[in-house]
Amino acid sequence: MRTEFLPFHLPDIDEAEISSVEQILRSGWLTTGPKVREFERHFAEFVGARHAIAVNSCTAALHLALDAVGIKEGDEVIVPTLTFAATAEVVFYFRARPVLVDCCPKTLNIDPEQIERAITPRTRAIIPVHFAGQPCQMDSIRDIAQRHNLAVIEDAAHALPARYRNRMVGTIGDITCFSFYATKTITTGEGGMITTDNDEYAERMRIMSLHGISKDAWKRYTAEGSWRYDILFPGYKYNLTDIAGALGVEQLKKCCRFYETRKQLAHRFDHAFANIPALTIPFVDDAVEHAWHLYVIQLNLEQLAINRDRFIEELKLVNIGTSVHFIPLHLHPFYRDALHYDASEFPRATQAFDQIISLPLFTRMTSQDQQDVIDAVQNTIKHHRR
Ligand SMILES: Cc1ncc(COP(=O)(O)O)c(C=O)c1O
Repeated sequence: MRTEFLPFHLPDIDEAEISSVEQILRSGWLTTGPKVREFERHFAEFVGARHAIAVNSCTAALHLALDAVGIKEGDEVIVPTLTFAATAEVVFYFRARPVLVDCCPKTLNIDPEQIERAITPRTRAIIPVHFAGQPCQMDSIRDIAQRHNLAVIEDAAHALPARYRNRMVGTIGDITCFSFYATKTITTGEGGMITTDNDEYAERMRIMSLHGISKDAWKRYTAEGSWRYDILFPGYKYNLTDIAGALGVEQLKKCCRFYETRKQLAHRFDHAFANIPALTIPFVDDAVEHAWHLYVIQLNLEQLAINRDRFIEELKLVNIGTSVHFIPLHLHPFYRDALHYDASEFPRATQAFDQIISLPLFTRMTSQDQQDVIDAVQNTIKHHRR
């Protein structure tokens, strides 16, 4: 058994990030500035989008996106139940209502058929979440959106880099929101990016991200800027700092290399677990390139004498950290008690929740780290097989 705990995730930061952040710290310019602009330019090029707007979280990105498409009080926005708090909470910021829908049993992504059923005259937008890094069925989702005149805002917190039918995520829906939270495929500690090809949305989101102040508010303290500014709308304080931007520029350079490493790690897990009846490995749709932010196994509980929680405890006892993505929203007190959602409305996500475990998958894992995870999973199954 390994003697040191293997965490679920560790960021991959080296001298390039450290010296780039150091330069910013020495430059005298700490907040939004040229580094953030550089990060935005490189990010837009990387995914192939016309606009990229850096913000301080994916949650902020989702909020600005909903504002840009004009969500108002009383509107409905369709979101998957199998997601993180952020995807749905931002809808409440507008006194609008997130309408939860169930997932596809194999990919655990939002089910387009359930989207169609959830549409009412109040529906204004859909927020598909590319669960674990696997793009949703975007052709079907875009088709539904077009027929019902709905905006598509992608929650791509897990999906950098990912492709759907050869198109980069970030260029498919009306607006796409990425996360650079510490566990994500590239990180700025906290941070996010919004991409869109729509000039109007981009302009609105840029203005609203910094107090609703007219263009280039951040330049007001530079030699080329001016102290004078106009407040056009009551905006928010969602700008990214140049310190984070410096991390982002360096991390983005490594994004493809990180991706190749994560893909190899995922394939090794696939290979090791493919013939174990007590678990199901992630299903990958032929139409996609999966970002492999997460490697989520599903336990086949009828073959095991222990449940998922106990399985996680067993892995912890042999020093393997794991996580669960996600506790479906409808099982949380707020959604269950205040919004009266019932587990029977979401049979697939409810069942999946009892079976899912996210295994450690990060670029700094050594081959031995991964072998330890494989051994721990295999041994736990061997000891607790029915
Ligand atoms: C699916 C999903 N959406 C949104 C978020 C929010 O991202 P951030 O922490 O950058 O606001 C997360 C964060 O983990 C997430 O997993």
